[in-house]
Amino acid sequence: MTKHFINLDDLSTDDLAKIIDNAIKLKQQHKAGEINNTLKNKTLAMIFDKSSTRTRVSFEAGMTQLGGHSLFLSDRDIQLGRGEPIVDSSIVISSMVDAVMMRISSHEDINTFANNSSVPIINALSDESHPCQLLADMMTYQEHVGNIKGKTVAWVGDGNNMCHTYMQAAKAFEFKLNIATPDGYKPDQSFTEKYANCINLFDNAKDACTDVDLVVTDVWASMGQEAEQAKRELAFKNFQVNEDLMENAKDSSVFMHCLPAHRGEEVSAGVIDGKQSLVWSEAENRLHAQKALLLYLLDK
Ligand code: CP
Ligand code: NVA
Repeated sequence: MTKHFINLDDLSTDDLAKIIDNAIKLKQQHKAGEINNTLKNKTLAMIFDKSSTRTRVSFEAGMTQLGGHSLFLSDRDIQLGRGEPIVDSSIVISSMVDAVMMRISSHEDINTFANNSSVPIINALSDESHPCQLLADMMTYQEHVGNIKGKTVAWVGDGNNMCHTYMQAAKAFEFKLNIATPDGYKPDQSFTEKYANCINLFDNAKDACTDVDLVVTDVWASMGQEAEQAKRELAFKNFQVNEDLMENAKDSSVFMHCLPAHRGEEVSAGVIDGKQSLVWSEAENRLHAQKALLLYLLDK
């Protein structure tokens, strides 16, 4: 059966752990200058209807490092963007490549594409979730701190696609998740119901961060919400991750952000550029985590 990676919990906890362990090995291998051509003659199609720096560069460089090839397909250039049906696009593209990575706004469209594809589909950010980022985040925590099982994580800010994926990660990796959002910006109810046993909802960032091991945030206005920027700046003004807020977390706590970040909005420069921040490692690990994901999906 074709394996897909649409949501983090499409995979068992065991498989997620194996991917992360392999990612750490692939990183060491790459740093040691060893050549890995496991995906020689394989092609990854990368479909985007939104901007990207990390996702595009990491998948593209990752395919090169594994001896394969990647194709950047913007919806401005392919017929999908001119209305060719998702089903037709999936049948055709999957008949020519070995895997497809999609950054498409509609999570439903990614599901439809996957249901009609003969090759693995990877969700590289939808309106609902961002599972590739969580592979990198969990790898980064493991590398820098250790096992996340039994720890407490605080999500501060918008109950968005990243927050949803942290909820899925809380279940898979068995950590507690405190979620602090302003009124009106909670995660989707379908998620709060499904992951109720792993989460605690707060309307106050300080309470959510008390004694936690990891603090995570994301932009206040995600891609596609630019028109709401001013309204959101007001709603989120008490939800900035800054030095004062980090005081409530454990002394040993660390900070993560999927990036891109807005210093002075969701995070202060002092925190993101400070000692507790793991953001550069987290970004770099997208590369190795996704190489391990590709090898897993392609049974290599
Ligand atoms: N974190 C992340 O997915 O970054 P990009 O939007 O730059 O790909
Ligand atoms: N929540 C952000 C994440 C970007 C990587 C967005 O959807 O724009």
